[in-house]
Amino acid sequence: MFFDRPDSGELAVLVHLEFSQLESSEDPREFEELVLAAGGDPVAFITGKRAMPTAKYFVGTGKLEEIRETVEQEGAQLVIFDHNLSPSQERNIEAYLGCRVLDRTGLILDIFAQRARTHEGKLQVELAQLRHMSTRLIRGWTHLERQKGGIGLRGPGETQLESDRRMLRERIQYIERRLDKVRKTRAEGRRSRSRASVPTVSLVGYTNAGKSTLFNRLADSDVFAANQLFATLDPTMRRIEVEDVGPVVLADTVGFISHLPHRLVEAFRATLEEAATADLLLHVVDASEMGRDEQIAHVDEVLEEIKANELPTLMVFNKIDLLGHEEGRIDRDEHGVPWRVWVSAVTGAGIGQLAAALRERLGTGVISARLELEPSQGRLRAELHNRGVVSNEEYLDNGNVSLEVKISTVNLAQMRAHDAEADDAFTAAGHPKPKPTLY
Ligand code: GTP
Repeated sequence: MFFDRPDSGELAVLVHLEFSQLESSEDPREFEELVLAAGGDPVAFITGKRAMPTAKYFVGTGKLEEIRETVEQEGAQLVIFDHNLSPSQERNIEAYLGCRVLDRTGLILDIFAQRARTHEGKLQVELAQLRHMSTRLIRGWTHLERQKGGIGLRGPGETQLESDRRMLRERIQYIERRLDKVRKTRAEGRRSRSRASVPTVSLVGYTNAGKSTLFNRLADSDVFAANQLFATLDPTMRRIEVEDVGPVVLADTVGFISHLPHRLVEAFRATLEEAATADLLLHVVDASEMGRDEQIAHVDEVLEEIKANELPTLMVFNKIDLLGHEEGRIDRDEHGVPWRVWVSAVTGAGIGQLAAALRERLGTGVISARLELEPSQGRLRAELHNRGVVSNEEYLDNGNVSLEVKISTVNLAQMRAHDAEADDAFTAAGHPKPKPTLY
């Protein structure tokens, strides 16, 4: 290399092709972001169009030659494809180019390897990497000079590359056993939490949305009184205290990435299970990100994959400081239920509002009201009894009946949505319907 480039990552040439006969491909902008997230330094972006991938090199030979020349010109050490390559394609391209090649799955695995936070997460990444690698170890990597570290070689990479397939298999089995054990412990933890009816709130969101920053902010915030490391010693779970609700387990999850290959969703299922079994999801969004709507859609896709799309969700639009806002805000739907909170995990703006929204959404934010119903309002009275919210009842001299009611805000919002008479009665009792704020 001619220049010293001290703070840069590996120099990488990026390749993204459009195939007219295949369905929609990934967003090239996102691809570049993934490479940056993995610590790569993109020096060239090669694009192209063709009908179908070729069997041997995935790309045509003309394109391959263009890639080779670019690698040479830029002094790149790595070529990253925004596609999934077969093991033999990867080997053929490496042999042709004389430098390392990484496909999309390898790239995503590398990002996960850097970000896995739990013991279990690390095991899962290692397992997925080993599996990905074992299909590529058939004839060894002798055509390439081995490099230490670097994208796609992190985690267990270097050591396993040198071992034979039998060792690889043993390692895979060992990790599977360990994972099994961790999963059982985790499931047990979940069961005992649900026995003790401690609700779980899981943070989900696109990678880089600020989940971990928010997680730490919530766990250390004065708003949530007590907090101690949860008994599992799992750094991604904290017990926080929400006023009127009591203890709540807050769970952080791995960041989602768009078009997560199906195989990977499988591999990370156990971590994602924490999200799938939550009582409430906090969907954290980087509100300052241009492509935030697409990121939301990608996260929704993954939630659907893990069957968590029907769970109650509260949107958390984070990083409002980058939008120039100093104050947080709660947005309510037409029933007055909070559906979105604007916060900054960094400045702490909106954390109080997030606490208030959590209180309401966890269904235990309770209001007390005294309703006076006329004899003609028997249906409403029956309905309130049905819902089990009447704590006391008294007949008045004027023939009316006075009800002491304790009702959760969520329950009340539902009732108001379908029952105008209930809405009027609560309004008359001094509990007007919260105004929706829609943007
Ligand atoms: P993954 O681990 O990829 O899932 O990311 P994450 O969602 O956990 O994001 P993380 O908390 O690591 O934050 C990503 C980056 O955004 C970090 O550099 C944070 O400092 C930054 N960040 C998080 N919240 C805020 C915020 O409210 N304002 C600003 N300005 N930056 C933030």
